[in-house]
Amino acid sequence: MYWAGSAYTERAMKGLILSGGAGTRLRPLTHTRAKQLVPIANKPVLFYGIEDMAAAGIADIAIVVGDTHREIRDAVGDGSRFGVSVTYIRQQAPLGLAHCVLTARDFLGDDCFVMYLGDNMLEQGLAEFVEGFERQRREGSGEQDASGAGSCRAQILLTPVENPSSFGVAVIGPDGDVSNLVEKPADPPSNLALVGVYLFDSAIHEAVAAIEPSARGELEITDAIDWLIRNGHRVRHRLLEGWWIDTGKKDPLLECNRLVLDTVVRQVDGAVDGASRVEGRVVISAGAKIVNSTVRGPAVIGADTRIENTFVGPYTSIGDECVISDAELDHSVVLEGCRIHGTSRITDSLIGQHVQVTRSLERRQVSRLMLGDHSHLELG
Ligand code: TTP
Repeated sequence: MYWAGSAYTERAMKGLILSGGAGTRLRPLTHTRAKQLVPIANKPVLFYGIEDMAAAGIADIAIVVGDTHREIRDAVGDGSRFGVSVTYIRQQAPLGLAHCVLTARDFLGDDCFVMYLGDNMLEQGLAEFVEGFERQRREGSGEQDASGAGSCRAQILLTPVENPSSFGVAVIGPDGDVSNLVEKPADPPSNLALVGVYLFDSAIHEAVAAIEPSARGELEITDAIDWLIRNGHRVRHRLLEGWWIDTGKKDPLLECNRLVLDTVVRQVDGAVDGASRVEGRVVISAGAKIVNSTVRGPAVIGADTRIENTFVGPYTSIGDECVISDAELDHSVVLEGCRIHGTSRITDSLIGQHVQVTRSLERRQVSRLMLGDHSHLELG
């Protein structure tokens, strides 16, 4: 519940999750699948965002989808299994994050909403971020809370980064308000990067309608927020606690998998034979079989997967219905339906669905791989 202008309203905040986009940086996986459905600890990235929203009390969620809309609908459904209602909004082309707000205008109405990038993951939950925004708005523009905030039209989440030129960057004024925002500046005015979570009230609709496409041809959300500031609206910020990862590239995705696996709780539902060892925090899903192998956690093994004569090392996620034999792998994400046999050690690798990796010659060496769905590779 929040204050809209002077009138208290019972309407809850809405959620907008962006899951369109091109996903060029995660090719070839994104030739065949939505990058928001790539699994982290065997659960699609997008599900973590939906669960975060549900935990923050946001039950009315729209997902902006593009070419991969069918796959996302099939995976998420109507949202009931997350305890939320999900509406799908088709964006005809990936024309930018502010374009997503334009496209979702009818769904959003004049309600406040949290916008979340569907391929981002945060350690910190959304609840505190959302409550802070509601509190600031409730307290009205004339009043100040402990952090000096009055009412605001938008709230952004910021984190210090080493390479601000790769991000949207914010400058904070002495009163804590955001005074300036620039997208990927050559000469960064601060090291505070925008994290992919934003809170808006209805003022953002005027902003996204007013801005022009950027040099890369997109309607930038940073330009829309900057428009709010230039037009006298207050934009507040919060500093992120904990980690934040944009999983849209291989190495951050593996890092995210590592961080999430660090939190798994041991659960062995599958079968482990007497010659095998399952060490530490490991999830062995139902129907999985571990035969004459070692699985050293943190690791997850998907349903109906067979691991035979193999060493699965820390920070590895193996999807459902894989067969891994005479192999060694660690710090890797293997999607469902893969066949890996007799390879040298596989490390730091992201392997798409239904990939086959087999050995052609008896030579042991480390391999670093990024393989698309249905690839077939023979290592020498
Ligand atoms: P990005 O990662 O910034 O863009 P992208 O998906 O086009 O990826 P790449 O740069 O690898 O080609 O997008 C962040 C999130 O927002 C992601 O979940 C996709 C989504 N998105 C949309 O839904 N519509 C859009 O117009 C854009 C640009 C992104």
